[in-house]
Amino acid sequence: MSTSIPLRTLGKSDLHVTPIGLGCWQFSKRNNLAGKFWPKLDDKVIRDIVQSSLDLGVNWFDTAEVYGSGASELALSDALQKAGKKPGDVIVATKWWPMFRFASNIPRSIDARLRALNPFPIDLYQVHQPFGFSSATEEMKQMAELAKEKKIRYIGVSNFSEQKMREAAEELQNHELSLVSNQVRYSLLDRKIEENGVLKAAKELGVTIIAYSPLAQGILSGKFHDNPDLLKGVGWRKSSGPFRAENMKKSLPLINLLKELGTKYKVSAAQIALNWLLYAHGNTVVAIPGATKLSHAQENAGAMKFQLNEEEIHSLSELADKYEK
Ligand SMILES: NC(=O)c1ccc[n+]([C@@H]2O[C@H](COP(=O)([O-])OP(=O)(O)OC[C@H]3O[C@@H](n4cnc5c(N)ncnc54)[C@H](OP(=O)(O)O)[C@@H]3O)[C@@H](O)[C@H]2O)c1
Repeated sequence: MSTSIPLRTLGKSDLHVTPIGLGCWQFSKRNNLAGKFWPKLDDKVIRDIVQSSLDLGVNWFDTAEVYGSGASELALSDALQKAGKKPGDVIVATKWWPMFRFASNIPRSIDARLRALNPFPIDLYQVHQPFGFSSATEEMKQMAELAKEKKIRYIGVSNFSEQKMREAAEELQNHELSLVSNQVRYSLLDRKIEENGVLKAAKELGVTIIAYSPLAQGILSGKFHDNPDLLKGVGWRKSSGPFRAENMKKSLPLINLLKELGTKYKVSAAQIALNWLLYAHGNTVVAIPGATKLSHAQENAGAMKFQLNEEEIHSLSELADKYEK
């Protein structure tokens, strides 16, 4: 692994991650409803994406049970093994899916997660959504038990509000554990966490924000603005805010600034958008862009090799403020 990229510590843990990790939802193989969001990627493409991410210094990977009912976890494990990685060489995060389930499912389903990722351990286990049948407190009790049994190393949540995050952190404290991360949607085109208390609470509690959809699912690369024909192939993304025609128009000035800064740093608009996430809030935020092509993974990993200055970060934030969905 490249040693030149300064690592960031996830919450109060000894997990030291590169500012960019690889999001692995795209490895779902269209295996279930959530998996149908992305095209089916060949094993070869998945292996190349993982290998080149590793080559460019990325040291961690985010997957989930719901990404193809384990297909993404299996594909990730396969690609890491093919890349010659052994348990402990990389950091693996996965997630428990709470829909229509009680917290008691957490210990019942953990062995299936470990089997899918075998031989890699679960470094970070996250509750994927806040909408399970049980409270955050009950879920954290079960997660704490898994940590005690050493089936997982650290505990995180995803899509949790400020209040739920605090509830989870408080329960873990009762077990002398800490909440390490909250994985939420965060990009220049979706800055809700700056307003709804999540980012502020994360800073206060020492919880890392893991930014998902950091490129607004491709929009911040500027490719859809440059070539609207590409919108024909985006499937379900078309119905989401940033992809609507009126919002594409509103985000154009921001895309233009991303490109302008890209010219200065000899990088792409996507790399500028990711770099903004990494440096707008000190070390609090890390990002997990997903990739459907090798070139995406290469480009996205390259976003941690330079640093925007404060003035540039401010200009991007200001212009993004004008974008209303
Ligand atoms: N916790 C949660 O609830 C949750 C929700 C969503 C995602 N996630 C996680 O976050 C990860 C990333 O989020 P995401 O996939 O929703 O959004 P994203 O990372 O913003 O966008 C990924 C998509 O954008 C396009 N893309 C990526 N890099 C590009 C580049 N450099 N240039 C041009 N296009 C590029 C690719 O799609 P095309 O080639 O098809 O355009 C790719 O599949 C996921 O893999 C998953 O691990 C978590």
